[in-house]
Amino acid sequence: MQRKPLIAGNWKMHTTIDEAESLAISIMESGLPGDRDVMLAPPFTAMKAVSQAVAGSGILLGAQNVCWEEKGAFTGEISPIMLKDAGCTMAIIGHSERRHIFGESDALVNKRVAGALKFGLVPVLCIGEKLEEREADKTFQVLEDQLRKGLEGISQEGADNIVIAYEPVWAIGTGKTATVDQAQEVHLFVRSLLADIYEKNIATGIRILYGGSVNPKNVDDLMGQEDIDGALVGGAALDSTSFSRIINFKVT
Ligand code: PGA
Repeated sequence: MQRKPLIAGNWKMHTTIDEAESLAISIMESGLPGDRDVMLAPPFTAMKAVSQAVAGSGILLGAQNVCWEEKGAFTGEISPIMLKDAGCTMAIIGHSERRHIFGESDALVNKRVAGALKFGLVPVLCIGEKLEEREADKTFQVLEDQLRKGLEGISQEGADNIVIAYEPVWAIGTGKTATVDQAQEVHLFVRSLLADIYEKNIATGIRILYGGSVNPKNVDDLMGQEDIDGALVGGAALDSTSFSRIINFKVT
């Protein structure tokens, strides 16, 4: 099955509204190949402005997190309905910074995934092992745990609308990338787990992104791997020249 590549830029806690708008416009104007999806995840404050700036370009907008409730007493959270109202159609969930800096558990991540689906946002469920877990040979065990718990109770139809991002924690913002073989090995493992949880054709259709120091130099090799269907980019997504080169990856 042909999976459409997805290049996603996670801007994290960067950019004022004006900076976000200019960055989005530069990315849009640098040209977007039609055979791949591009998602930008600006800070919440800039979502609406970016949505207006890129309207009609085909660029998708993602949130960096999302609550499972539509509204109510959830101080500091953001509602899926509010995000949709601002032009957003996707949501990054369970990013390692949410898990490790803000203590988000698999159970919480699972609630967010279910909530996103309920309100029609595409969840980008992030999983990834820490360095000490990799060194202790626990990578697959950790990933299986995060994946199964993150997807608990998510139906086949839900899974059809989901994206997974594998981001080894030791490779995020560190300049260290997993080798293409390490990344492909994990992606294949994740796909086999998905095939165990869901029907094989669903597993075959789910896009699995790689994240962790993706840059213009390593993107072509990563995207050349059978089970790597896109990239979740942090640092290099804040520079329009670098991000455009990543969007325009070439597989030889
Ligand atoms: P990085 O971040 O590209 O700066 O390593 C990736 C991410 O955290 O999604």
